[in-house]
Amino acid sequence: MSMRIVRTISELRAVLKALRENGRRIGFVPTMGCLHEGHAALIRQSAARCDHTVVSIFVNPTQFGPTEDLSNYPRELERDQALCLRLDVSVLFLPEPAEIYPTAFCTFVEPGQLGDQLCGAFRPGHFRGVATVVTKLFNMVQPDLAFFGQRDLQQTVIIRRIVRDLNLPVDIVVVPTVREPDGLALGSRNVDLGPEERARALCLSRALFAAEAAFQAGERRPDRLLDQARQHLGTLDTLQYLELVDTQSLEPLGRDVVRTSAMCLAAVIGKTRLIDNVLLAPDPDSAQFTSHLETE
Ligand code: PAF
Repeated sequence: MSMRIVRTISELRAVLKALRENGRRIGFVPTMGCLHEGHAALIRQSAARCDHTVVSIFVNPTQFGPTEDLSNYPRELERDQALCLRLDVSVLFLPEPAEIYPTAFCTFVEPGQLGDQLCGAFRPGHFRGVATVVTKLFNMVQPDLAFFGQRDLQQTVIIRRIVRDLNLPVDIVVVPTVREPDGLALGSRNVDLGPEERARALCLSRALFAAEAAFQAGERRPDRLLDQARQHLGTLDTLQYLELVDTQSLEPLGRDVVRTSAMCLAAVIGKTRLIDNVLLAPDPDSAQFTSHLETE
């Protein structure tokens, strides 16, 4: 089947109405473009579970702070289109900012406390922008399932909460982080790293893997697990945070890891801000694990 490229909400709705016939399931992968293997993993998951996949590419201005460079966000539209075509995407939605934010737009989705912690402390208003655009895109696409990467763990927790709090009829699927063979988590910003910066960035995943190894060896005390990670971050003076948090509240753990938790970090390497995390799950098979952070 050929891929439809649509730019307006009315076109999108018309195309989707036809695709949805006979109860066909729609999967949705919202992106800001500059697609990489992490996005490809989301699209493949959608293809495996849904009859049609919609991908959106929209560099959302409301999730960039005043000091963050929206105009320099990497854009690779031709390459992105070719990838979507190869992966059998049914609809590629490429709206202009005015389509998403009409004149005098003033209604936002406020994620509250969840948006103020971790990355939110360094990027005020970021998650309000994410929450607003994702809610709007869900209303436009009305997908059965929507797919997000675990690398953006805070984003997935916030989106799940929005879906629950606002009764949005969509299931959220979180797909494990895709990594380079040496451990670096894939992200659209990685293209900005010079060779020396890229080599330095490896300490982030090494730190998380060290904590994960200690956890697998039986360590459950948060301070000890954080110490394991810190040993690999010693020379990194631009670490923004390293925290071990509850995956529902995103609050730091005060006592032993007895339910699924996440060790999360963010750092600036050169001019590039990188985030990463690992899940620490005492019982990966428990219903508790899948109910709040379903991974594929
Ligand atoms: O993860 C992203 O790429 C963005 O935050 C999203 C979900 C597409 C919203 O703009």
